[in-house]
Amino acid sequence: MKLVAIVGTNADFSYNRKLLEYMKWHFRNAAEIELLEVKQLPPFNEDLPYSEQTEVWRFNNKVNTADGVIIATPEYDHSIPAALKSGLEWLSYKHTTMKEKPVMIVGVSYGTQGTSRAQQQLRQMLLSPDLNSDVLPGSEVLIGNAAKTFDKNGFVTDINVVHNLEDSFAAFNKFVRSNMRYLEEGDDNMTEPHISSEAKVQFRTGSLKVKEIQQIFNTLPFEIDFIDDTDHFAYYSDKPNREHVRYPNEIGETVEECHPPKALPGVRAILDAFKLGTKDHVERCLPLNGHKVWINYFAVRDENGRYLGTMEFTGNVGHLVNLVKDGKFDGFPDATSGASKHDDDGEATGPAASADAEADATTGASEHDEEKEDKTE
Ligand SMILES: Cc1cc2nc3c(=O)[nH]c(=O)nc-3n(C[C@H](O)[C@H](O)[C@H](O)COP(=O)(O)O)c2cc1C
Repeated sequence: MKLVAIVGTNADFSYNRKLLEYMKWHFRNAAEIELLEVKQLPPFNEDLPYSEQTEVWRFNNKVNTADGVIIATPEYDHSIPAALKSGLEWLSYKHTTMKEKPVMIVGVSYGTQGTSRAQQQLRQMLLSPDLNSDVLPGSEVLIGNAAKTFDKNGFVTDINVVHNLEDSFAAFNKFVRSNMRYLEEGDDNMTEPHISSEAKVQFRTGSLKVKEIQQIFNTLPFEIDFIDDTDHFAYYSDKPNREHVRYPNEIGETVEECHPPKALPGVRAILDAFKLGTKDHVERCLPLNGHKVWINYFAVRDENGRYLGTMEFTGNVGHLVNLVKDGKFDGFPDATSGASKHDDDGEATGPAASADAEADATTGASEHDEEKEDKTE
């Protein structure tokens, strides 16, 4: 379970940040908790061009890919701090990031009421149509006397507070997991029939089982992403060691939500050209994750030419480039031996090879982390 914890203040020293750091440590076996800072965001302003707000995009993206959100709010004049309000505005403006997102509210303040009035307001805001979150009901973490709550190492000193946190977090854990199950299994009342993986799909040129289609896409040496005709991210192939790492909870996002602002104009131009029919294909070559990556966007159309969506076809072509350099396409002296030689050159299989592959995969992942910005294409 992956959670983000929003520090609801822009102050450098904050008891609420301490509280989240404590929760991150105390609940480390139950969840991976990443702290997010509203102080990194510009004050919300509708006139600021969203396309230039990389920090806002990053913040939105982190929240979006999390299974749940914890918000720690201080109390300023019986309300939440302006910096937190501003952060929530960024999360709701042009985005549905918080929609149906499980949220747990906690807070610590100097006063004895432990942010109760700020929390009440926050709860109300989170239920507004543009935030529309699923706020954990029934549990409250209201910590007063902030200055006495933590020792010098950041541990909570009052056992009652620890028990309150544990009970509330256990309720939140269950709440988030049931939400995750719902997202994975879908709503039983959905009108769309559930198709068995054994079901066959009949094409003009043959038939395939659903599981065969899935595995063919996953086995292709190129990864596939599909944006549907309403500009929503509809599908990605689950190829091992993808160049662009995707997550299941990104499915259904709009093009705006799943691309960093600086990449958006380029992507938008491609989709518009495909829809108008002025282009059918756009190709790009770029270094990514230490690989020579070839990216192709194709307009996918039905038999009558009507636009169905855009397929992004991406792969590392370093091996092909080397084959060309080595003259492998210039004619084999012996076609048969060429073929068998190629077999020998093929990827090894077996336990030892899979350990190697795992090592490669790890390297690939960490390299990708350094190039997160390039998620764009
Ligand atoms: C502008 C301002 C207004 C405050 N109003 C309240 C208040 O209404 N109730 C309260 O209990 N504490 C109030 N406080 C004190 C905060 O609880 C205290 O500063 C707390 O440490 C803030 O949380 P933080 O340490 O996470 O920033 C206020 C503090 C500031 C700076």
